[in-house]
Amino acid sequence: MITDTTQSPAQSQPQSGGTPHGSTQTASTAVVGLQWGDEGKGKVIDLLAPRFDAVVRYNGGANAGHTVVIGGKKHAFHLMPSGVLHQGVRSVIANGVVVDPTVILSEIERASQALGGEVDLLISDRAHVVMPYHKAEDEMREQILSAHTDKDRSIGTTKRGIGPAYSDKAHRSTAVRVGDLLRPDLLKEKLERICEAKRPVLSALGADPAVCDASALHEECTEAGKKLRSRICDTGTLLNEMISAGGRLLFEGANATLLDLDHGTFPYVTSSNCSVCGIPSGTGLAPRHVGRVQGVLKAYSTRVGAGPFPTERDDEIGDRIRTRGNEFGTTTGRPRRCGWLDLVALKYAVTLNGVDSLAVMLLDVLAGFDELSVCTGYRTSDGSVTDRFPADASALEAVTPVYETVPGFQEEITGVRTWDDLPEGARRYLELIEQRLGVPVGIVSVGPDREQTIVRSID
Ligand code: IMP
Repeated sequence: MITDTTQSPAQSQPQSGGTPHGSTQTASTAVVGLQWGDEGKGKVIDLLAPRFDAVVRYNGGANAGHTVVIGGKKHAFHLMPSGVLHQGVRSVIANGVVVDPTVILSEIERASQALGGEVDLLISDRAHVVMPYHKAEDEMREQILSAHTDKDRSIGTTKRGIGPAYSDKAHRSTAVRVGDLLRPDLLKEKLERICEAKRPVLSALGADPAVCDASALHEECTEAGKKLRSRICDTGTLLNEMISAGGRLLFEGANATLLDLDHGTFPYVTSSNCSVCGIPSGTGLAPRHVGRVQGVLKAYSTRVGAGPFPTERDDEIGDRIRTRGNEFGTTTGRPRRCGWLDLVALKYAVTLNGVDSLAVMLLDVLAGFDELSVCTGYRTSDGSVTDRFPADASALEAVTPVYETVPGFQEEITGVRTWDDLPEGARRYLELIEQRLGVPVGIVSVGPDREQTIVRSID
């Protein structure tokens, strides 16, 4: 049920009390992106974080980009959980994440400076390490795919080594885990073996095999291990203990549902389970601890990198959304592909994640359009219209979107703070989303700043 409230969650008190061990109830919440990423999850997590004991990342790596704007100052992180700038809220990088030691060390330093004190960050000893050779491999594989004879077949990855690091996790014998950074002797033997196996592969891909220098990598890794020692632990046990003691966890999904390795627009996806499906395996918590699911979507659609995008507008509409929404990648700076809202894809994402409440972000970007279009069906090659989201990327590439057009709103809404003060056109648009997705809108964002938020209901 929707309850109207003007109280900012940042002002409300953290709620204590939790779940007796063994109950099917949980006081935790998952925040997941429902489109192709960059929905504004960082802002939602920053808003909700004071109500929780810890923010837990369970997937992805430095391919994610979360921006939080506080008092006009921009704080961008890639690997660090988004709640890090709240004192008293623990940050946890759980086992499902792939950790680039260089990135996390630099983000720890930046977050500590912003906080004016030490960050409370713990990293799972079971998380996997992204090595320099993973980034080289990512780069070379993309280059090879882009030079394909008939067509550019690249995925458009962030080149942060994510795919190769997860591949090594699946290979097992060529993987390095964060816990290994604390065992120099074992690590030395491991890296020698791995480098020997990798050098010919990297050479064959056209990369400089010098990135596989076991002794240089050993020095870098053990140095990182010394700096991270106090933060590396068994986060699965820790999180289970926190829940048993009544603690509340906020799970932060990196990337987004339509980029999920199993459920996204394969093969144009990332290499982890970004949907809520990734939480149990990526944290070591039982599925019943996932709790409430807060889905996050933009008021329109964007995508970075390659892959099907039925509602993409490669025209003045797309340009206008890109300019007004500043749609350029946080991680790579690439211009994002832009288009209308796709309710077919969103309904699929809502169902997959079991979404309880929606946060609609960047609504202000749509001000000034006479009309707004939303995709309500896909016309397939045989002329029929379906509301099913296909599993196959080539099938999705072949559909034509069927649109419903509604009146837009002319008024700028960046200063609006309550639902009732929204222009009628904006409210109608939100009500259409609620009605078609069957989920209430609890949060509306009308600008990048923490304060530019309409909070209707967050429980
Ligand atoms: P990778 O995760 O770097 O392997 O990239 C795979 C695909 O996912 C590419 O199309 C990326 O642009 C996309 N991607 C990965 N992370 C994000 C994200 O956080 N936001 C948007 N797109 C992402």
